[in-house]
Formats: sequence, C-alpha cells, structure tokens
Amino acid sequence: MAARCNSRWSLSGMTALVTGGTRGIGHATVEELAEMGATVHTCSRNEEELNQRLQEWKSKGFKVSGSVCDASSREQRVQLMEKVSSIFDGKLNILINNVGTNIRKPTVDYTAEEYSGIMSTNLESSYHLSQLAHPLLKASGNSSIVFISSVAGLVHLFSGSIYGATKGAINQLTKNLACEWAKDNIRVNCVAPWYIKTSLVKTLLENKEFLDRVVSRTPLKRPGEPEEVSSLVAFLCLPAASYITGQIICVDGGMTITLSLKSAIQLHESLTMSLVKVKSKSHQAECGSHPNTHACHGVSREVCTTSWSFLIGPRTTLLIFPTTWYSPIKRKDQANGPDRPLAFNVSTSHQLLRLHVGYMSLS
Ligand SMILES: NC(=O)c1ccc[n+]([C@@H]2O[C@H](COP(=O)([O-])OP(=O)(O)OC[C@H]3O[C@@H](n4cnc5c(N)ncnc54)[C@H](OP(=O)(O)O)[C@@H]3O)[C@@H](O)[C@H]2O)c1
Repeated sequence: MAARCNSRWSLSGMTALVTGGTRGIGHATVEELAEMGATVHTCSRNEEELNQRLQEWKSKGFKVSGSVCDASSREQRVQLMEKVSSIFDGKLNILINNVGTNIRKPTVDYTAEEYSGIMSTNLESSYHLSQLAHPLLKASGNSSIVFISSVAGLVHLFSGSIYGATKGAINQLTKNLACEWAKDNIRVNCVAPWYIKTSLVKTLLENKEFLDRVVSRTPLKRPGEPEEVSSLVAFLCLPAASYITGQIICVDGGMTITLSLKSAIQLHESLTMSLVKVKSKSHQAECGSHPNTHACHGVSREVCTTSWSFLIGPRTTLLIFPTTWYSPIKRKDQANGPDRPLAFNVSTSHQLLRLHVGYMSLS
C-alpha cells in the first residue's frame, strides 16, 4: 500500500523542462518538481541570476540544470530543445510552459512591436516549445504538459487586451493538444492564476489602490503566493493525475466564481429602471430565438416570451423575469399583486445562480 502511494505521489525518475525558472511561479515550480524527485532543466535570459539559482538548487540537493534562452526567439527555442534532448537522452516527461510577460495599456495605444513581443513571449513560445517537445514527450511514453495561463484568459481584467488574448489562446490550445496528443499518452493541462506575488506584478501590488481592487475581487482577500500555484502544477504532472487532461484550473482565491454574479449585479443596477418601462413585445422575438434560454436553463417558452435575456459574458446569460410567472422560485408569501417580485438568474455553463432582488412593478 505504501509503495503504491509513493509511486502515485512521486516524480522520481522523471525529467522536466520548466521555462522561466529563476523567479516567481517558474522558480517555485522548479523547486516543487525537484523536491518530488524530478530532474529539471530550466531557462531564463539573465545568466548571472540563472547561475545563482543553479548554485542554490545544488546546495539544496536538487537535480537542476539550466540554459540561457530567450523564449521569445524561435532560434533559441530550437537550441533549448536540442540541449534538453541531449541531456535527457531524447525523452521528456514534463514540459511546463511558464514564461510570460505583459504591458498594460489601453488597446489603442499598443505599438506593433509591443503586440509582437507579448504574442511571441506568451503564445508563440508555448506553442512552438510544445511542438518541439512532442517527440521527446512521446518517446517517454507517459508525459504531461502544463501551460501557465491566467484568469485574464477567461474573464475581462484590467491587464491589457493582448495579454488576455494570449492567455485565452493558451486555454484553447490546452484543449486542442489534449485531444490531439492523447493517443501519444501526453496529458495537457493549464493553470490559470489570478494575482500572485512575483516580480511580474510587484510594482502593481505595491500600489495600495491597486492592491485594494485585487483584494476586493478575491473571496480569500489576498493575492496568492507562487507556491500556491506550483503545488497544482506539480500535482497535474503526477501519476495520481493520470485521468486529468484538457483542463484549465484557476488558482485565484475564488475570484472567477464571483465575477459573473458581480457583473450581473452591476448590470442590474444600470438596467433595471429602464427595463421595467420597456414593453415585452420587442423582446419576445429576441428572447424566443435565444438558443440557450430554452435548452440550458429549463425555462419554459411561456416564461421566456415574457422575460428578457442578455448575454453578459462569453458563458453568462442574465435572465430577468417575474417570479410570479416562474413557480419554482416563487415564494409562498408573494401575492400576485401589482408589485411583482423579480428574480435575476445568472446562468453560466457550469451553474445557475439565482439572485432574488426584491419587488418591482411591471404594470
Ligand atoms: N504573477 C501573477 O500575478 C500572474 C498571474 C497570472 C498569470 N501569470 C503567469 O505566470 C507566468 C510566470 O509569471 P511570474 O509572475 O512568475 O513572472 P516573473 O516573476 O516575471 O518571472 C518570470 C520568469 O520567466 C523568465 N522569463 C521572462 N521572460 C523570458 C523570456 N523571454 N525567455 C526566457 N525566460 C523568460 C524570467 O527570467 P528573465 O527575466 O531573466 O528571463 C523569470 O525567471 C507568466 O506566464 C505569467 O503570465 C502570472
């Protein structure tokens, strides 16, 4: 029993490449994987810092080597993978695509160079390194890729549209590769953090106003630590995670589970007064033709034709209708008087949240 446990929860004998391992999430991941028994190769651009880290890891007894490599350069990525192939005998069990960068600006202010820089560092490097690693991962017979994406690839944040686009693309790439490479016994997953205390966001989090905004959107009321991300990354690489593939898992203190509801409340505040004045007629056609309204949420056509639905996010529909016409959420003490209670249903692909918001006249 103990031996089975040990092998399921150990990376002993495995080889790993972690990009960007000298600081932040990459650094924590190198240590996590090495502590669990993996032999790790990492890379970064700053040679001095890389050598310092390699010394530290050596003194901790970790088996870690490193290369200077700018992951945004196609040529250097090829050289990196050649090195990895030579030190690990053409086989690799784990690829962690961690390198990423950001420039925060309004969309109209980005230059072409900034666009290319963020795209090549975040998306192209992950894509190309996965391509280059494929024969090595396949040769190992049992392997795993983990992308470090971001919650910015799932929901809108104040972190810039290019960054969000690269992370959204990585999320989708995770699903494509998980299906395409499952036959090669390569699992592909993605970890999407919210604010984590690293050098990438140090200046931002030192700004009290910014930190307050982050904390106010986080149920756990704090930013995360790099080790709170690396623990999940390592888990996804373990034999214990052998049936998990194609998943995007948030490490976000609960931030993403609150966002839809919050958006809906804000939307409600701005829309409610004008909505009640609108006659339902113009909405009947729109609502009746809305595919999700009937299929996903079990709302009857009768209710639907007397309600309003708005797509307020990629996976979120806000349904507004009088509860007196929708018996499952009608409260016993509510009479069919002129003041009818309204229910705001916030539906996502995962769940249906109901928010009873009070009374409003529809007459
Ligand atoms: N921190 C957050 O709040 C947060 C939130 C969501 C997602 N993420 C994602 O998590 C990943 C890691 O971020 P982090 O916060 O740990 O960043 P970080 O503290 O800035 O560390 C980045 C690491 O990657 C290396 N690196 C950066 N650009 C590189 C390049 N072009 N080629 C090779 N190495 C490079 C850096 O070393 P050199 O500079 O010496 O190259 C460093 O080791 C990124 O993909 C980021 O988008 C972070």
